[in-house]
Amino acid sequence: MISIQKICAKDYGENQINAWGKREFQHEKLATCIKNDDIWVVESKGLIEGYGHLKTWPEKSHAEVLGLYLTPNVTGKGLGKTIINLIKARAKELGFNKLNLSSTKTSKFFYESAGFQQVGPDDSCLIGGVEIEGHPMEVYL
Ligand SMILES: CC(C)(COP(=O)(O)OP(=O)(O)OC[C@H]1O[C@@H](n2cnc3c(N)ncnc32)[C@H](O)[C@@H]1OP(=O)(O)O)[C@@H](O)C(=O)NCCC(=O)NCCS
Repeated sequence: MISIQKICAKDYGENQINAWGKREFQHEKLATCIKNDDIWVVESKGLIEGYGHLKTWPEKSHAEVLGLYLTPNVTGKGLGKTIINLIKARAKELGFNKLNLSSTKTSKFFYESAGFQQVGPDDSCLIGGVEIEGHPMEVYL
């Protein structure tokens, strides 16, 4: 939420940031993700300052980055790149040859520098009834 409020806010409207970047912490949902998926965190001075989330659907031969968010305290140090490389390596290890995601407007250039390309027209998802635009992207592993 801090990452959205402090970094993505420059590319989205106030109503979008209010709906998307100020959601309640969902303990149960996140506990399920931690149990079932691959998640990496950035820890600094005892605080979690970022995370990356890989979700795989073996039955659908599909691997997706569901989230990669850092706070401004730890951006620009190569940690995003380190996490995306760990995600790619893990997806490959699990037998996938392609990785998909929907990037924020803010992170499109970051993903391009990590080898991703936009596939298809810009997309969007509804969060709290508000449309949040993004870019469908993929990379072959
Ligand atoms: C996107 C994000 C994870 C990048 O993390 P980071 O640790 O700052 O990125 P890094 O320091 O690892 O940078 C890696 C490369 O991306 C480039 N890069 C990073 N952010 C960029 C930006 N906004 N525009 C252009 N290039 C960018 C860096 O210059 C670097 O290039 P290099 O490898 O050629 O040197 C981070 O900025 C973030 O959390 N953003 C807000 C949340 C968000 O939009 N997440 C994506 C959800 S899909």
